[in-house]
Amino acid sequence: MRLLTRFNYNIMAILKILNYPDPKLRTKGKPVKTFEESLVKLKADMLDTMYAAPGIGLAAVQIGVFIRMLVIDISEAKNAPRCFINPEILSFEGEIETEEGCLSVPAIYESVKRFERIRVKAQDEFGEHFELDAEGLLSVCIQHEMDHLEGKLFVDYLSQMKQVRIRKKMEKLRKETL
Ligand code: NI
Repeated sequence: MRLLTRFNYNIMAILKILNYPDPKLRTKGKPVKTFEESLVKLKADMLDTMYAAPGIGLAAVQIGVFIRMLVIDISEAKNAPRCFINPEILSFEGEIETEEGCLSVPAIYESVKRFERIRVKAQDEFGEHFELDAEGLLSVCIQHEMDHLEGKLFVDYLSQMKQVRIRKKMEKLRKETL
């Protein structure tokens, strides 16, 4: 007889989120090739971290794990977690402008233009392939998180002047919390 004790879902792990302008946020995520058990734990930890923040999306790059993986939950009740590994946009349509924020850029919200509808393919934490049509907030959130996998942040879409202002604000915030 063998007891199944591989995963302990009772242990919550809140991971440290990297803050802009940390240069590590500019690192690209590497494709996931082998789907090891540790991905299941990583997914759970990323979701714990995202819910605790609180946020609606988190990319692995933001917690210093440089792989192409992200989690999202845009539901009100926080009971519809999604995990995308090696995501790729297959097609896109329309334009939508949303006030975006980012867990790596606390307390900053700015308007960003994205595709309104996308079709995306990805794998789950077990390596299963899936495709999904997303629109509105889900579409925006997927695109925002996918940018993180390229070392890109939503502030990159803003004017130079705004970027300088945000960087100064973040550095001030960092000094205050040290
Ligand atoms: Ni973000």
